[in-house]
Amino acid sequence: MSEIIGVVGSGTMGIGIAQVSARAGFAVVMCDVREEFLQRGLSAIDKSLQRDVDKERLSADEKQAVVGRIKTTTELKDLGEATFVVEAVTEDLKVKTELFKSLDSLTTPDAILASNTSSISITKLGATTGRPDKVIGMHFMNPVPVMKLVEVIRGIATSDATYEKVRTLTEKLGKTALDCNDSPGFVSNRVLMPMINEAIFTLYEGVATRESIDGIMKLGMNHPMGPLTLADFIGLDVCLAIMNVLYEGFGDPKYRACPLLRQYVDAGWLGRKTGRGFYEY
Ligand SMILES: NC(=O)c1ccc[n+]([C@@H]2O[C@H](COP(=O)([O-])OP(=O)(O)OC[C@H]3O[C@@H](n4cnc5c(N)ncnc54)[C@H](O)[C@@H]3O)[C@@H](O)[C@H]2O)c1
Repeated sequence: MSEIIGVVGSGTMGIGIAQVSARAGFAVVMCDVREEFLQRGLSAIDKSLQRDVDKERLSADEKQAVVGRIKTTTELKDLGEATFVVEAVTEDLKVKTELFKSLDSLTTPDAILASNTSSISITKLGATTGRPDKVIGMHFMNPVPVMKLVEVIRGIATSDATYEKVRTLTEKLGKTALDCNDSPGFVSNRVLMPMINEAIFTLYEGVATRESIDGIMKLGMNHPMGPLTLADFIGLDVCLAIMNVLYEGFGDPKYRACPLLRQYVDAGWLGRKTGRGFYEY
């Protein structure tokens, strides 16, 4: 396969995207700002693939081949040959717009620039480039190797040809693409985050304990995990950033973030990734 997939960011999502891309046979170049982040990412990928080897879903040789298809770099210019770039850096408009400007200048004019953003406007990201027709949202779900959905977001200028290429790529990655238009929170987070935020309000107001809130939603609504557990899994900083985007995007007070969520983020209790959120890990 001649196509090269560039992945920017080797955090929770970037490593998942790199892993499924390499597993589907693509050559991958994964970029982050520090070598240690890349090494941490590679070791997480190795562990994830090893679980598949242990369960006999992958041979040891195949695992080596998958790992061998992932190159890492701290230099963005090493993504110059990529046909697709999927950006999965920190959910921050300034960081992402600067990155899209750089990607636009260093990739070939035909390359598609996709963002894994949970909530930032694809139209806005596209407008920072000279190729808004080739800028699109590819919203993978966490954990990427497990979750089937890629929510594909069309910015106002995204072309049908770009959408078709991304849909085809998504299928090659073994995922299902479902599309929507650019709007704050898209579909997934516009529906999910207010539910999580409301669950945090019930905790904040002492309506119920964390166990009870999560248990009610699990047993009563058949959700695989409760909203507070899910928030810890997503990262509370990510949840807060998304609520802020909904709040600003719609200008509607119903999207205000719960003060308890703000406090936890201020305290550095960001969920699983920091060892403490609504639960302790
Ligand atoms: N965590 C989730 O459940 C989830 C789900 C869907 C989408 N997302 C979105 O995916 C994106 C990444 O989220 P995450 O949870 O993986 O974040 P993360 O904090 O785990 O990882 C982000 C990585 O990006 C790197 N980075 C920051 N600026 C960079 C730059 N300029 N160049 C290269 N690397 C840079 C950081 O060093 C870090 O390693 C965000 O836009 C987030 O909204 C997250």
